[in-house]
Amino acid sequence: MRLIPFIRASALALGLIGGAWAQPAPESAAANAAASAAVAAASAPAPAAPGLGGIQSANIFEIAPDATADPAYGQHTNAERGRVQPGNNAPLWRAVGSGVTGYSSLPTSQAPEAGNLIQPMVQYPGARFTTAGEGWRQVRNHWLIPYGGSLLLIALVALLLLYFAKGSLGQARNEGRPVIERFTPFERSAHWLNAIAFVLLALSGIVMAFGKFFLQPVMGLQLFGWLTYLLKNAHNFAGPLFAVSLAVVLVTFLRDNIASIWDLLWLKNAGGMLGDKQVPSHRFNPAEKGMYWWGMFFPGLIAVGSGLVLDKLVPGLGITRGEMQIAHMIHLVATVVMMSMLAGHIYMGTLGVRGAYKAMRTGWVDEEWAKEHHELWYDDVVAGKIPAQRSGQGVQPQPPVRTASV
Ligand code: HEM
Repeated sequence: MRLIPFIRASALALGLIGGAWAQPAPESAAANAAASAAVAAASAPAPAAPGLGGIQSANIFEIAPDATADPAYGQHTNAERGRVQPGNNAPLWRAVGSGVTGYSSLPTSQAPEAGNLIQPMVQYPGARFTTAGEGWRQVRNHWLIPYGGSLLLIALVALLLLYFAKGSLGQARNEGRPVIERFTPFERSAHWLNAIAFVLLALSGIVMAFGKFFLQPVMGLQLFGWLTYLLKNAHNFAGPLFAVSLAVVLVTFLRDNIASIWDLLWLKNAGGMLGDKQVPSHRFNPAEKGMYWWGMFFPGLIAVGSGLVLDKLVPGLGITRGEMQIAHMIHLVATVVMMSMLAGHIYMGTLGVRGAYKAMRTGWVDEEWAKEHHELWYDDVVAGKIPAQRSGQGVQPQPPVRTASV
């Protein structure tokens, strides 16, 4: 879809180097003098064409200073203004500035905003009543960037404090004999493909939105420009991939993320976080289920939907600037919420819970880990309601849970 930008990027880089190398040798002084004389002549105001009453470079208000005395001066059309002050196009630019659409020969079917230089006035939430482009700029720079950035930082600091306060949760390290298959090869590959696409999108998105505050001062404008250009294209590629992998992950784990009555007991005791023993939960505890719905499912669908509009992949949408501005604002809100929530998931899935990472890397957990973290799920496996091994992956020859009494 967008391979061209990569080729263009490298061609441009090569061109820049080549251009610098191919600079022509300095010409003689006489030739330079002739060249600058030619430039001076070209920029000199053209002499007034005979009979057209043309304007040479003059201050418009010196031409007909009394024109402003006319009470209707402010309401002039451009034609009327041209009659009293030829060359004064203020009415035209005032109309353009307020979003009026002028004549254009382009078919609106192909160019719906043809003839419209500045968008009409709108009131975006958090911005004053102004032209849409300015409104979007205000929402982005006064609200989304400062508050979105703060939310991300707060999430990271909170996780850091949690780690220093509680360390890695759980006693079981999942280093014993693997007896229960927690994630099948299909679930794990869907998860990690999705995780890789997400991390790529998150990092490139953070650089595009916030990089100018922490990267540009270090890298300098040129290098930061190139990096952002490259990451924007990587973002446009990873987006559709994430859309597909996210859909697969959400469908795959949907059934086990539906709330059950046991979750209320878990929530009532905050999962045992305040005590020293975890409250029994099923395959996924309510914190994971909450993460699934409020960190992955809803913000994920909104982030992907608005992202596909920005990628111009939704037919009939993402054509006008207004649609792109609205899609961008929705996208930034949904992705910042998703990144802040998933920072928690990634933390719990690496440092936060002992042995959890191994579960998603190998797919298997030992008896102690299953019992400590997901006792109700473990009981169902022991009772034979859930098979201890769900996929045919043959790497783990072990006796059935029941007979081995695990
Ligand atoms: C580097 C990034 C990530 C890491 C290290 C990570 C790690 C993990 C780990 C260790 C588990 C197993 C937890 C358990 O056994 O209960 C897990 C489960 C899961 N992860 Fe991730 N993950 C990452 C990114 C993502 C992303 C981007 C998504 C989706 C947007 C996601 C969706 C899920 C889902 C749906 C589950 C199953 C648990 C549940 O449904 O609640 N993960 N992850």
